[in-house]
Amino acid sequence: MKFFIDTANLAEIKEAYDLGILDGVTTNPSLMAKEGITGAENILNHYVAICNIVDGPVSAEVISTDFEGMVREGEQLAALHKNIVVKIPMITEGIKAIKYFASKGIRTNCTLIFSAGQALLAAKAGATYISPFLGRLDDVSTDGIQLIQQIRVIYDNYAFNTEILAASVRHPMHIIHCAEIGADVMTGPLSAIKALAKHPLTDLGLQQFLADYAKGNK
Ligand code: G3P
Repeated sequence: MKFFIDTANLAEIKEAYDLGILDGVTTNPSLMAKEGITGAENILNHYVAICNIVDGPVSAEVISTDFEGMVREGEQLAALHKNIVVKIPMITEGIKAIKYFASKGIRTNCTLIFSAGQALLAAKAGATYISPFLGRLDDVSTDGIQLIQQIRVIYDNYAFNTEILAASVRHPMHIIHCAEIGADVMTGPLSAIKALAKHPLTDLGLQQFLADYAKGNK
């Protein structure tokens, strides 16, 4: 399973990349705003800064909601850097834009996926990735993992190349469950990625090894 980080924070992206396990980055307008990145030029420059840290796909989201606007914005984003993947919302105009970008060889990430029907449409349009929002489904008492499992079956039935990018991942168990059911990619916060490494028995065991070494090597 590929690991993407879901942030626009350059320090966190660098920290995750330096771990050696980071395959890509996802952003969205809320994450950009959280870092105080505003204004068209600053936003475009920030995407380039992210692409210069990570050698892998970087999702950059369009703001337009009409086909022409999405095409205009998406082409501008894709021209910024070879790593850019154009993130398109799951709306009917978005489906048309995904089809257009697929015909031009521009990679897309279809975002705001909350149902299997949406995932099927995005794959038929030729999306490179689809982003089912796991955490936000869990927030409304709906099983996000079950949705990803359903999409896995559908994509495997028809050998769709579209990759399932589990998004809105909040904690390490989300990552484990995504890996168990065969999500192609997960995107989550640095805290969830680093939490995978933690176990109290590891800490205790290491403490003991170091203490025993110190005893024998005074
Ligand atoms: O980038 C989309 C998604 O990962 C958002 O996550 O935590 O805001 O639901 P969250």
